[in-house]
Formats: sequence, C-alpha cells, structure tokens
Amino acid sequence: MYRAWFSPFDGGPETWPLTDVVYRSTSGSLLDVTHDMAALADRSAAAWMNLFDQRFMRSTWPYGSGVWGKLEWVYPGIDPASIVSFAEGGTNLLWAERYGKAFGVPDLWVKQCGNTHTGSFKDLGMTVLVSAVREMVRLGKPIRAVGCASTGDTSAALSAYCAAAGLPCVVFLPKAKISPAQLVQPIANGAVVLSLDTDFDGCMRIVQAVAEAPDSGIYLANSMNPLRLEGQKTIAIELVQQFDWQVPDFVIVPGGNLGNIYAFAKGFEMMHQLGLITKRPRLVCAQAEHANPLYRAFVKGFEHYEPIVARPTAASAIQIGDPVSIHRAIRALRAFDGIVEQASEAELLNAAARADRTGMFNCPHTGVALAAFEKLVGRGVIGRGHRVVVVSTAHGLKFSNVKADFHAGAIPGVDDTLRNVPIELPPDVDRVRAALDRATWGL
Ligand SMILES: Cc1ncc(COP(=O)(O)O)c(C=O)c1O
Repeated sequence: MYRAWFSPFDGGPETWPLTDVVYRSTSGSLLDVTHDMAALADRSAAAWMNLFDQRFMRSTWPYGSGVWGKLEWVYPGIDPASIVSFAEGGTNLLWAERYGKAFGVPDLWVKQCGNTHTGSFKDLGMTVLVSAVREMVRLGKPIRAVGCASTGDTSAALSAYCAAAGLPCVVFLPKAKISPAQLVQPIANGAVVLSLDTDFDGCMRIVQAVAEAPDSGIYLANSMNPLRLEGQKTIAIELVQQFDWQVPDFVIVPGGNLGNIYAFAKGFEMMHQLGLITKRPRLVCAQAEHANPLYRAFVKGFEHYEPIVARPTAASAIQIGDPVSIHRAIRALRAFDGIVEQASEAELLNAAARADRTGMFNCPHTGVALAAFEKLVGRGVIGRGHRVVVVSTAHGLKFSNVKADFHAGAIPGVDDTLRNVPIELPPDVDRVRAALDRATWGL
C-alpha cells in the first residue's frame, strides 16, 4: 500500500497525516509531502512508465488528468470521491523550431503549462489542494473557506476549483497589480475578492495572519502549502514522459514565490530515485530584475539572502520580493547544479515578442524564461547540442494588456523593430492596395 505524509522539508522527525490542517513544523519550517519510497519501489521503473503511459490523456476518470494519472506519486490513498479535476495537465510540449534555430539551439522546446483550464500552471497544484480539502471536510475538519494571496493566477485557479467543489473561497489580491483578465476570473467564479492596497508580499502577510489565527476556519492555499507542489511536480514527470522518458539538459522556469522551481526538483528527484531517469537536468530559475531576491542570493553563492521590495514589472505574477519558498528553492538549485538568471523589463518583453514572431503568444513570465535562455546562449552555457525546455507558466491571452502596450509603443526601452501597429485606412481599394504593397514588400 502506498503512503504519504507531511514532514518538515529540511528534515526532522515530525510527521502529520495529509488530512491535518498544518503548514509549518514546530520549529517553523515549511513542510513537504513525503512518500514511502520503499513501497513505490515495489514496481519497476518500466512498470511505472507503462502505467503512466497507459493512462496519459485518456478518459478513464480521474487518470486522464496529467496530475491524477500519477495519483500514487501525488496523494496515494485519497478517496476518489474527493477528487476535483478539470483534466488538467497534458499540455503541449512544442518544438520551438524557428525561435531556437535563430539562437543556434535547434533542440529547444516550450512546455505550454498555460494551455489549461484557468490559463496557468496553477491548476496542477490546485486540483490536489482542493481535493485534499474535500477529504478534510469529509473527516469533519473545521474549514469554512479556502483562501490565498495571489498575483492573479493562484486566485483564478483556487476560485475555479472551489466553485467546482462547492467550497467557499476568499482571495486576497494586491489592488491594481494584476491583469484585468486575471481579476475577472475569481469574480466570475463567485469567490469573495478582497482588493488590498498593498503588494503581493503585503497580501501574503495578511492572509497568513488570518489563516493561522486559532479557529480561523480559513484553509491556506498558497504554495507554502506542500499539497500544491505535489501537483506541480507532475510537470517535470510529464515533460520527460513526452520525450519518451528522456531527460532534457536544461529546464528553465520563471520564479516568483519559488514553489514551482522546488516542485520541479521534487519531480525529477522522485523519477531519479525510482529509476525512471538516470540523470538530472540543470534547473534554471529565471527572475525579473525588478523582483530578483533569489538572483541576488545566487550571485553571492547562496551564502546570504535578503528580502527586497519588488518593483513593478510587466511580469506582474512574479513581482514578489520576499518569496515564501526561498529556502526550498535554494535547496533545489544546489541539488540540480542550478543557475539563476535575471531579465530586465526590455529583455523580457523583447524576448517574448521575438518568440511571438515565430508563432508563439507568450505571457511576460515566459518572456523572463526566454530572456534567460537567450542570455545563457550568449554566455555559452547553453549551446547547439543541448536539449532545452522553457516552461511557459501562463497563457499569453491573460496578459494581452501588456502586449497591447508593447505594440502601441507605450513601454519605453523596447525594441521598436518588433512592434506591429494596425494600419488604419479608409475603405478604399486603391488605398488598401497601395498600403499592402508598402507593407508586404520584402516579406
Ligand atoms: C504566470 C506565473 N509564472 C510564474 C510564477 C512563479 O511561480 P512560483 O511563485 O511558484 O515561483 C507564477 C506565480 O507566482 C505565475 O503566476
């Protein structure tokens, strides 16, 4: 029988059942979901790969979900009746042929985690967390609502899954710091939406204080909650599966609160321990220069970390100065020969626009990861022979306001040659033909 439980992420003897409402160890450490690896080793690597392949994107509920197809590695023993799923995962891993070749890296891929129910990778973690909450409620735990602070995508995912489960949901958002498309998602799903006059870090402090107060009845759904990371780690497993169980050389992930980079490390580590893969990729965490506390620690060899006040960035979902999973991320990067790269506003917007010109439609956070890719190629770290995966974390359509500003020339410092402006004309055939001759000449 497979089993998993909570334990401190940095070691220690304490354990709690996954149905307990607990976020930190008695010494204040964040928690991890720990699996009984000896039990999981009763199946061979080949048998696990075979099982996961048989289930992948089929309709047998709940295994067609990219997360629940790996149920035994995520939340073994969960009552299937508790599972809330929108068939998340199974996102396309696209060969970025033209864009990669332009940088001399023909084996470049983009994992499109934003092509999902609420338009970001957050669905992968939220299906696990909300399913776990249902399990807790069934056991009589005193939960009256599920809550989170958010830079937009977490609140969208939480409100959708809670609405599907019939659970009350409350989201704490930094006023005027998320995109209009993100804001309308929890509103439409009927969540209680609190718009606080602060930044994400301020919202995070408030939601923690509210949720951790005795008898609050608010269950905390931020990525400090390790249940989320169990779902997110399946991206690592799924992308290796999509390469017929071959491991890429580099995986580049945009980082904000830094749960996701740790989740990637967990996914790869689990596959390694159970023999599904024999090497680890190098993990790259990409941060916006305006929100770069991990980058600053990296350049000091991770000897010193200091939170910062993050400045506004087009990559608004990662405008985070005091990431809750900082120590998890440092641990992950140390284990995976990790690199942290940063991108200025011009670098991230231009990288996204260059990729868009090859047919993609990337969100600014993916722009940060693409800019990191371009810089690592420039420094000779990534080269022609490498297989590289850039993780796209949200759908570009959620950030069409940023793209519209870029192409309207409303953002200073960007590459004008990448701007594309509609040609306004009267409905006159000759004028239209003349304009077309000018516009398409030399294409
Ligand atoms: C689109 C997008 N990309 C990247 C991230 C960063 O993920 P993490 O906070 O786990 O580092 C987030 C959320 O914070 C996000 O919404």
